[in-house]
Amino acid sequence: MTTLTNKRIVLGVTGSIAAYKSAELTRRLRDAGADVRVVMTRGAEAFITPLTLQAVSGHPVHRHLLDTEAEAGMGHIELARWADAILVAPCSANFLAALAAGRADELLGAVCLAGDVPLALAPAMNGKMWQDKATADNIRLVSSRGILLFGPDDGEQACGEVGTGRMREVDELVTNLADLFETGSLTGKTVLVTAGPTREAIDPVRFISNHSSGKMGYAIAAAAVEAGAKVLLVSGPVSLPCPDRVTRIDVESAEQMLAAVEAGMSGVDILIATAAVADYRPVQVHAEKMKKQGGHLSLELEPTPDILATIKAAHPKVFSVGFAAETTQLEEYAQRKLVQKGIEMIAANLVGPAATETGGTFGSDTNALHLFWANGNLRLPVASKDKLARLLIAHVAQYYSEYQFTPRVSGGKVVKLVERTKPAG
Ligand SMILES: Cc1cc2nc3c(=O)[nH]c(=O)nc-3n(C[C@H](O)[C@H](O)[C@H](O)COP(=O)(O)O)c2cc1C
Repeated sequence: MTTLTNKRIVLGVTGSIAAYKSAELTRRLRDAGADVRVVMTRGAEAFITPLTLQAVSGHPVHRHLLDTEAEAGMGHIELARWADAILVAPCSANFLAALAAGRADELLGAVCLAGDVPLALAPAMNGKMWQDKATADNIRLVSSRGILLFGPDDGEQACGEVGTGRMREVDELVTNLADLFETGSLTGKTVLVTAGPTREAIDPVRFISNHSSGKMGYAIAAAAVEAGAKVLLVSGPVSLPCPDRVTRIDVESAEQMLAAVEAGMSGVDILIATAAVADYRPVQVHAEKMKKQGGHLSLELEPTPDILATIKAAHPKVFSVGFAAETTQLEEYAQRKLVQKGIEMIAANLVGPAATETGGTFGSDTNALHLFWANGNLRLPVASKDKLARLLIAHVAQYYSEYQFTPRVSGGKVVKLVERTKPAG
């Protein structure tokens, strides 16, 4: 199935006769679920108007690097950060050369340089241009840097010649792009994800809960499916649609969540507990709605079961990842939790006023995570929750396969931390 649901795609369009196909490509990408932002070179504007691409993408087209208004809105760095992938289609011989040389004198070149995401080119040019040694050298160079090539294909060309250099068909490009996200790193594995808040009833109409939106957990469930896993999602009450190919079980309270997770644990290889489970619940749940009375009201609360610790103790071989949302002392609390719960990895994130830089976390579409495991840690800087989820899953898959699950936290002490933070740029 070709799906780009919730993927943010920057589509670069350059000066090739095949640029007229970019309008159709934009539509097909959107049909597959992608959010598309188009960046055009000056050369491209000779072949297709920005207005056409604006109309089909539903967003203004980005054209100028040195544009004060554009920089204030979404400049090259912001566009590069926003994207989950960049596709240049069609990619002219000239833009290929610019890319090989690392040039950033046009917006598209700058976005490609600034992007830390998969970059794919769909070359389109006359067969002789494609075969030219300069083009061949440029292709070798960009390939050696990890840039992907979708095509070109053989066939009849706009110049009337028949040969290699034709841009790959639009539907195939969409499939190629979707395949980038289907990593297969968790093929054959079963992942159980918990998400959302829990509600602890006070009476039939009132409850204790929290601000969790479930977005991070749902994004993780979707990313695990893309990685090839069979995914079970145990979810508290949220207003999100169930991701494709995910089996969801809806619960309300911590007690119900624990029961649903326990019931679903058979065959589970990896447990990722993102749910913001209420720590306390009322001791007494009133059968009838409590009537308002004058004066203060005290509720006696008792702790809810610790789902992650309980499940981990009952299923010690399941690779378990917890989440720690803290308003302060993130690292310290996260590491303590890693040890206390005896889990393999913890993803810590700031919430509340301290989290303004990361987008506020609860309910927002962005976040930043700091992963800790027994002998290492890794910062995942601010990004969309979808992108963070894919990075987290990639990391979990790598750790899971490297260590083939040997429990690392045993003596109650986290060993030396290895800082692998990429410098901010
Ligand atoms: C009618 C016409 C068609 C062209 N088609 C192509 C093409 O398919 N591929 C290509 O690499 N260059 C093609 N070119 C040349 C590019 O448009 C030219 O190199 C331009 O500078 C590319 O600009 P850009 O790479 O900045 O977008 C064509 C030029 C003309 C006049």
